[in-house]
Amino acid sequence: MLDRTEALAMIKASAPDHLLVHALETEAVMRALADRLGQDPETWGLAGLLHDLDYPQTKDTPEKHGLLTAETLARKLPEDAVQAIARHNEMNGNLPETQFDFALRCGETVTGLIHTAALVRPTRMQGMEAKSLKKKMKDKAFAASVCRETIKECEKIGLELGDFLTLAIGAITGIEGEVGLAAS
Ligand SMILES: [Fe+2]
Repeated sequence: MLDRTEALAMIKASAPDHLLVHALETEAVMRALADRLGQDPETWGLAGLLHDLDYPQTKDTPEKHGLLTAETLARKLPEDAVQAIARHNEMNGNLPETQFDFALRCGETVTGLIHTAALVRPTRMQGMEAKSLKKKMKDKAFAASVCRETIKECEKIGLELGDFLTLAIGAITGIEGEVGLAAS
């Protein structure tokens, strides 16, 4: 299995800066979800870190997004992680089935909501609450590209929305300096 140093080098070599930020945030949320759900934080974290590895190659061919990464990572990550990566993008024809699959989908999607919310707050991550994120989810114009339905898939892994948002806020706050969200 890849270790975290190798995985980070892979994503850094292929990703533009904004994608690296998204990868690190997804890793943090996935580790927190694994902790909560009694799963392996290393494996879930690596899936989060690497799930969009093929984005630079597939940004114009969304039907391939996830599949190229799954090919690249076959036998380098546990099979359930490779499968979750293939299944995080339904446009490639794969639908989520397992707890891991749904966790990666809601976990990677919530990062877009939280990152955007932090950028419009003077104190960034500090003091962010699930309640205000829930309100922002109802405002269709806010972070319009972030799919609310995918975030709500947290319920399929047994987490109520507010609980999931609180967990994700905590996870991203833990790496706020690395992802440009520290309060100035
Ligand atoms: Fe992603």
